[in-house]
Amino acid sequence: MKPTQRNREPAGRFRVVALVAVLGLSLAACSGSGPQTALNPEGPIADSINDLWQLVFIMATVVFIIVQGGLFYAMGRFRERKDDESEPVQLHGNTKLEIAWTIIPVVILASIGYPIVRGIFDVRTIPEGPDVLQVQVTGHQWWWEFEYVDLVGDDGRTLVTANELYIPERTDVNLTMTSADVIHSFWVPVLAGKRDVVPNRVTNLTLHANNATPPDQPHPGQCAEYCGLAHADMRFKVHVRTQADFDNWVEGQLAPAAEPTEGAAADGYAAFTTCIACHNATVAGSDGVEDVGPVRTLEVDGVTFTSSLAPDLTHFGSRMTFGAGTFENDREHLARWLANPVDLKPMRPELNDIEAGRILGMPNFNLSDEDIDNLITLLEGWK
Ligand code: CUA
Repeated sequence: MKPTQRNREPAGRFRVVALVAVLGLSLAACSGSGPQTALNPEGPIADSINDLWQLVFIMATVVFIIVQGGLFYAMGRFRERKDDESEPVQLHGNTKLEIAWTIIPVVILASIGYPIVRGIFDVRTIPEGPDVLQVQVTGHQWWWEFEYVDLVGDDGRTLVTANELYIPERTDVNLTMTSADVIHSFWVPVLAGKRDVVPNRVTNLTLHANNATPPDQPHPGQCAEYCGLAHADMRFKVHVRTQADFDNWVEGQLAPAAEPTEGAAADGYAAFTTCIACHNATVAGSDGVEDVGPVRTLEVDGVTFTSSLAPDLTHFGSRMTFGAGTFENDREHLARWLANPVDLKPMRPELNDIEAGRILGMPNFNLSDEDIDNLITLLEGWK
């Protein structure tokens, strides 16, 4: 019959499928419900970044519509016609037009460039004053260490925690950051832009959150610079609290953990000697309060960072997650982790060199089921 028509059909169907797929993928980006969206800002810094994005997006859309509209108009209006063999008017040079299409882009770029440059300076301004919360951040392959340098306990220790950052609402938080190994990038999409975390260098980022987060819904954060095997699992949480709740949290975190004296927790504490090659815990026992594991520091540009080999476990039980904000802190996940950490998270513990301070993940210690159970009881008790 009509072979050409039959041949055309599959190609036509392919075009429709391709169009629907492209449209679907493009529209998927419009969903505002993703947890890592920067389009639902929760603070003034994220607001200003979002405003700039909206401005650029609107202007780019207007330019796109005008340019594409003109293109399609010209394609239709001046197309070659069968009954008209004459050549269209040949033009070269039109001073008025050329001046116009030089000035218009300059005006557009200047009107975008001015607020962007001003925004960059605003966002980069380091907040000062007694009300600013100072937090030092060390990026590690593959976890985050937070030290609240101005929050000091009775025993002279500063508040150190890992992977879950607590901040009070409506307060400027100045992060002073460095890396213990490679370049990372600190990113909490709803609170601020990204900032690289660079070895041998100090960078700063300001966080400011409008409202407290529900206890089980902290803001998600993520390392945003490829840093090796577990880059995708180098996550963290930002818990925003009212000032009173934050003060309570600080008080709890500054207290040492208690050395258990009986039961499964005490047996777990005996097995804990394996852990303290890398992990520290500040424990109140019969010898008084002591750091049972190593606490290392890193000196960068005159700033001393607490830069341990592995997360501090003093208040492990108070955390929602573990494994750098990746796994729920519950018995099931902990049991799988302690049985073989690499099963849960891609890491390279075979390259660890504790002397050199190089740790690329937690190895499998071949712990017995009983030890695993006891260790979990110990750690979950350290609220
Ligand atoms: Cu750290 Cu990616």
